[in-house]
Amino acid sequence: MYGPKGQSSGGGRPTAAPKKVTVPDIRARKAGGPPIAMVTAYDFTMARLLDEGGADMLLVGDSLGMVVQGHTTTLPVTIEEICYHGRAVARGARRAHVVGDLPFMSFQLSPVQALESAGRLMKDGAFESVKIEGGEEVAEHVRRIVTAGIPVCAHIGLTPQSVHAMGGFKVQGKGEDAAARLVRDAQALDEAGAYAIVLEAIPPDLAEEITAAVSVPTIGIGAGAGCDGQVLVCYDMLGMYPDLRPRFAKRFAEVGEQIMAATRAYVEEVQARTFPGAEHSFKPNGPRRISPPAEPAAATAVLEEIPPHWQTH
Ligand code: KIV
Repeated sequence: MYGPKGQSSGGGRPTAAPKKVTVPDIRARKAGGPPIAMVTAYDFTMARLLDEGGADMLLVGDSLGMVVQGHTTTLPVTIEEICYHGRAVARGARRAHVVGDLPFMSFQLSPVQALESAGRLMKDGAFESVKIEGGEEVAEHVRRIVTAGIPVCAHIGLTPQSVHAMGGFKVQGKGEDAAARLVRDAQALDEAGAYAIVLEAIPPDLAEEITAAVSVPTIGIGAGAGCDGQVLVCYDMLGMYPDLRPRFAKRFAEVGEQIMAATRAYVEEVQARTFPGAEHSFKPNGPRRISPPAEPAAATAVLEEIPPHWQTH
């Protein structure tokens, strides 16, 4: 069973921490090995479950603006918010590599601004690499960040930070010119030193062409099966986010349905007073009697009955 880093959940012997997935491991998947499985995560508990499930990479995406905060785009997300979620995810990721998204307007001004923001993500967000949206126009930004020793995952195709310029969340790279432009973008980012490139919402044959044209792994979302890996938003993968249902977002579970059913059952039991039962209650005190203040030892005994995550010390 899982537990906090390096510990077993049952209070027994510590479990050996699994070997972390590194940037060189990810790069090596271009040459062989199973396709990379990446998924977004925004909090400790989900990160721990996704890590236990075998995800290679956890992305704290700016999609959190939509699926966690309820905005209609990713634009309002700040560096501080990415860092806050990053620290939580890092505590749950024993094996998976943790990537942080550079949010809107944290890098667009200049390569120097991009480097500064990437540095903040690494220092304050506990990330192991950063992701940046954009093509040739951010190649210099990527070079600058990589030169400072920070690994960069690039992201082209549908780049949600440009949603208004694109006129909505639409498939990109349709037609000769648009496709050729994306191939050039990918090659420029590869040359600039990106260790992987996310390809979002592009035709599958174009994704294959790009995958063949670059030296680093491509990670697709709505880009067909020919990429070197795949990424999904965890809430889409789990069937928890009904607002946007792109055709590529396969639901591998209906956790949203289960949460609603569980909540209905809970509400019913609370209203019927069948929850909590005796098995969910502490031992009764027995008849009330006037007694001297509890000794410290007695207080400790009561604390021991309370689950560890409720205790404050
Ligand atoms: O923000 C995000 O979650 C992303 C993925 C969809 C690739 O950029």
